[in-house]
Amino acid sequence: MIGSANGVRIGITGLGTCVPERVLTNDELATIVDTSDEWIVERTGIRERRIASDEEALSDLALPAAEEALRDAGVTGADIDLLIVATVTPDMMFPTTSALLAEQLGAEDAAAYDLLAGCTGFMYGIAQAYGMLAGGLSKRALVVGGDVLSKILDWRDRSTLVLFGDGAGAVVMEPVGRGGFLGFELGADGAGGEYLWLPGSGSRKFDDPESFVKMNGREVFKFATRVLVSSANAVLEECGRTVDDVDVYVPHQANRRIIDHAVAKLGIPEAKTVVNVDRYGNTSSGSIPLALADARADGRLHDGELVLMTGMGAGLTWGSALVEWTERGR
Ligand SMILES: CC(C)(COP(=O)(O)OP(=O)(O)OC[C@H]1O[C@@H](n2cnc3c(N)ncnc32)[C@H](O)[C@@H]1OP(=O)(O)O)[C@@H](O)C(=O)NCCC(=O)NCCS
Repeated sequence: MIGSANGVRIGITGLGTCVPERVLTNDELATIVDTSDEWIVERTGIRERRIASDEEALSDLALPAAEEALRDAGVTGADIDLLIVATVTPDMMFPTTSALLAEQLGAEDAAAYDLLAGCTGFMYGIAQAYGMLAGGLSKRALVVGGDVLSKILDWRDRSTLVLFGDGAGAVVMEPVGRGGFLGFELGADGAGGEYLWLPGSGSRKFDDPESFVKMNGREVFKFATRVLVSSANAVLEECGRTVDDVDVYVPHQANRRIIDHAVAKLGIPEAKTVVNVDRYGNTSSGSIPLALADARADGRLHDGELVLMTGMGAGLTWGSALVEWTERGR
């Protein structure tokens, strides 16, 4: 799907993040599986990632991220009427992490639900919130993207273990006086679902009771390099903008080589591209908000600037958004 609610200004007015304290370096990983810092850095650009403790679940990261986003927006949980948590690692299937979070934040009147779209979850979440805000059903939304993939990885499988990390980010979305989202492009290709999947995690029964992330890295790589370019170009064209108009490019942080490929193909200068995969690895739905927060902390995200975000992940899914950043623009 592609498009926008023409003329309606919905923006991001608050941003917050949270990652676990525990840093896991490549050298430490090399003591667990047959890998090396050299291989991981060369093939992925990842140097370290954050890993949740045994006691930490998604809501333990989502809550501080959400609280920071609410503070940033100058509102409280009671001011939120829609709460979406995009994740593939909720605390449990139900109650949803969003319902738990609504309770913790005091968002008593909020509709709250979890959303599954692989690593693209955050992009789907902000598109849904945008639609509900633009349609007048919601007045102010909180969208959390976060995952603790370390809990569902096979810690014996070096091909997936080295790629992922844990983290969460949250945004407050609401009508703004200027700027805001210009459009979205989202898609899914179930034919590629077998390239990144979690067997045994739902109602389909498998002989093998193990439930760990399984991946065909080469196929996902090909898919990622293709959709990061096609989805970005599609949303730019839909919104009547070009790559030259983009001030800040926030791609999903899966692999430095995938980002480099997209940057080269799109023709976006490296200086405009946000990269933090070296410090966090692939945090799935946490990836885009963590990168947005890093860009802002580095002084690279200013009022009025055009931000292009593209996510991709299991499904296989992808999603892009174009937004004119509004710093305290209500
Ligand atoms: C996974 C990925 C880094 C592998 O890089 P690659 O250059 O394609 O490497 P290959 O899969 O061709 O493997 C090359 C060799 O390295 C080995 N290898 C794989 N993981 C390794 C690791 N962690 N350490 C050392 N060697 C490893 C392979 O076994 C293979 O050995 P072989 O040639 O003897 O068979 C890359 O394919 C990728 O990033 N894919 C996208 C994954 C992704 O982003 N998933 C999430 C999307 S949201």
